[in-house]
Amino acid sequence: MQQSFRLRKFNTNDLERITYINRACLPENYSDYFFLDLHRRFPETFIVAEENGEVVGYIMCRIETGLSSFVFRGLIKKGHIVSVAVLPEYRRKGIGEALVVKAMESMRLYKAKHCFLEVRVTNTAAVDLYKKLGFEVARTVRGYYADGEGAYVMEIKLEKH
Ligand SMILES: CC(C)(COP(=O)(O)OP(=O)(O)OC[C@H]1O[C@@H](n2cnc3c(N)ncnc32)[C@H](O)[C@@H]1OP(=O)(O)O)[C@@H](O)C(=O)NCCC(=O)NCCS
Repeated sequence: MQQSFRLRKFNTNDLERITYINRACLPENYSDYFFLDLHRRFPETFIVAEENGEVVGYIMCRIETGLSSFVFRGLIKKGHIVSVAVLPEYRRKGIGEALVVKAMESMRLYKAKHCFLEVRVTNTAAVDLYKKLGFEVARTVRGYYADGEGAYVMEIKLEKH
């Protein structure tokens, strides 16, 4: 099937729309400064999806330094998916998957070796999306979210992709 959306990098003109999508889709909301600071530091991994010229989804990431949890190799760079969302009426068309795949590709530009994220344990759609792409649950963090829900920390080696 022909893909009806396209991906491109975020630019600061998208900020209002991204804030809208973030608030419509997730309880974890951020200040303008937070979005803009991540864009300034990691522009390659802040990606938006457009359909008919309108932004309908985004993914925003941060590159962090930490210990490898797969094999002991000292400190490595990891790509952290901070936020990803697609507006409800545009879901189940492959946009979320395309955003995550593109973000993982772009993390390699920053020399990230792993990719990880936190996801609510009840968020089946997102957990299934990450599992489909090969992510595994590394651990569970009880009470991670402000409302007390726990998170799975899911991760994947980027070499595979
Ligand atoms: C998670 C989210 C980004 C997925 O976006 P999407 O564009 O609908 O995802 P895709 O169409 O690319 O789906 C890819 C795969 O994810 C899984 N998936 C997506 N939605 C699903 C659902 N409602 N139930 C079960 N699996 C689902 C499926 O494995 C799907 O593959 P398939 O279509 O071949 O079955 C979207 O549901 C969303 O924005 N949710 C609210 C915000 C959110 O929870 N973000 C993640 C925070 S960690």
